[in-house]
Amino acid sequence: MCGIVGYIGYREAWPIVLKGLKRLEYRGYDSAGIALMNNGGDHIYKKAGKVAVLEEFAETQDKSGSIGMGHTRWATHGVPSDRNSHPHTSNNDKLSIIHNGIIENYATLKEELISRGHEFKSDTDTEVLIHLIEEIQKIEKIDLLEAVRLALHEVNGAYAIVIMDKDNPDRLIAARKGSPMVIGVGQGEYFIASDATPIIEYTKNVIYLKDGEIALITREDLLIKHLDNVVQTPLIQELELKLEMLEKGGFDHFMLKEIYEQPRSIKDCMRGRIYPEEGKVQLGGIKEFAEKLKNIDRIIIVACGTSWHAGLVGEYLIEEYARIPVEVEYASEFRYRNPIITEKDVVIAISQSGETADTMAAIEMAKERGATIFGICNVAGASIPRLTHAGVYTHAGPEIGVASTKAFTAQVTVLTLMAFYMAQQKGTITTSKLIELLTELDHIPEKIQVALESNDLVKEVAEKIKDSTNCLFLGRGSGFPVALEGALKLKEISYIHAEGYPAAEMKHGPIALIDEEMPVVFIATQNSSYEKVISNIQEVKARKGKVIAIVTQGDTEVKKMADYCIEIPDAKEAFLPLLATIPLQLLSYHIAVMRGCNVDQPRNLAKSVTVE
Ligand code: F6R
Repeated sequence: MCGIVGYIGYREAWPIVLKGLKRLEYRGYDSAGIALMNNGGDHIYKKAGKVAVLEEFAETQDKSGSIGMGHTRWATHGVPSDRNSHPHTSNNDKLSIIHNGIIENYATLKEELISRGHEFKSDTDTEVLIHLIEEIQKIEKIDLLEAVRLALHEVNGAYAIVIMDKDNPDRLIAARKGSPMVIGVGQGEYFIASDATPIIEYTKNVIYLKDGEIALITREDLLIKHLDNVVQTPLIQELELKLEMLEKGGFDHFMLKEIYEQPRSIKDCMRGRIYPEEGKVQLGGIKEFAEKLKNIDRIIIVACGTSWHAGLVGEYLIEEYARIPVEVEYASEFRYRNPIITEKDVVIAISQSGETADTMAAIEMAKERGATIFGICNVAGASIPRLTHAGVYTHAGPEIGVASTKAFTAQVTVLTLMAFYMAQQKGTITTSKLIELLTELDHIPEKIQVALESNDLVKEVAEKIKDSTNCLFLGRGSGFPVALEGALKLKEISYIHAEGYPAAEMKHGPIALIDEEMPVVFIATQNSSYEKVISNIQEVKARKGKVIAIVTQGDTEVKKMADYCIEIPDAKEAFLPLLATIPLQLLSYHIAVMRGCNVDQPRNLAKSVTVE
């Protein structure tokens, strides 16, 4: 979490850094700050609140300077406040720093620095790091780059940092370990950012700084060293990102745009991977493990949040088609257990951002124990795809709304392809069955388009239940993870308390909550558990609950019981999660808008969870 931007060049830094922070605001948005360097020295402006608050505050201030750096924060150490906002300065105020990550041993270092006379102005771990750098420079009498390198050897934790020095006003120092950092290469200018979105309109040439690397950046040159002091040759890559992908394109919110993008994003995800006429799936990213897949004992899926829900859908699909046992684990729990993992296990790590700290730690642990690790990730070049042995990108395009929508359906699509691919390798599916399934999958984007047409009806339903304080989402089979995802979407953006449950579990507890005030959303599509779900609906109606049902087009049974029915196109059971999710995304979106919530940046959340 936290977004960082830096600029050194010939242009005014303020507008570049400010715009960059707005692009990175999805990473954290409880406070923001910018430092600028010009001939008269440095200026630091920082404010609690969104980047817009900082912008307004600095309106009448001196914003000149062609070197600058900025930070948008998701608080870990210290409440969101002006004084805890970045940049932070050293004891002598000559050095300033912005930081994304956590310095875990900051408390011990801080105590030591206090005993040496350092005074701290904030409650953050970051300030400790810049004081430490100053102290090392003072004691060792070395240049700043070397002092930063030595200081980074003394800290535990994750960081992406940028440092400015009043005594050397024509340079920036940047470093990373565990938190992402991209350097944009221009003509006589460099850009630094947590991801490429602030850079794309200035240059397409970027260097992804690797873990344990430190860079000295001037207008003309860039020197990259490893923390062990060995100089590195930078690899300049071309960005595939397009500017229009980062704009709302006429929609009121990124979330709505991303919901409507799903017919396209799912198509992109399948492109070049399915051959319906031949009944064949090709996944180039895991091809070299095709043989191994024939003999694996087990698959463990690790992920967090929405990505974990996608993993649960994957469990149904892989077990159904490839007949391989699957366990789905919260990465945050798995990493702290002592799980039994063997070389015959495949771990699939799912992450939209590719930066989630818990998922990364789970991967590292499973790797050490000999498992083969596959990644399913949306952000190309992120840390998780680098950590895994092989993987499949979701190709959903940048997801800017904090609540995941198109990334979820793309993850489910990749898992569907993986299930079919594994079944193909293991011979647990016939070619004719695959032809049938892939032919239908090929048309899922059009069916999603039809599901989106329920928008007006969903809005009407949203109007009726928007003032509820609780909501239940129930489903069975692969409808259960869909229910979990529907509940998560609603609670995270509208702040209505919502729970997802397997429909049959309702009678073991949650049924006590049901009264005439309680909306209950059922995934009641025509699949193998249809009849059972109907019985569950009756149980809710008998207790005067308000039933909203997601049903298959043309359904007549559920319509007799439910208060509201939202139709989705008919599809094979394997593809129902992709379709049933759409109205639930729209429902949470409209409820949140009606309640006046900030849909794209819900409170307390951040898009990329780089802390434990
Ligand atoms: C919810 C949401 C989160 C993420 C979770 C994992 O809408 O977006 O629950 O799914 O933080 O993030 P990734 O997928 O980036 O690892």
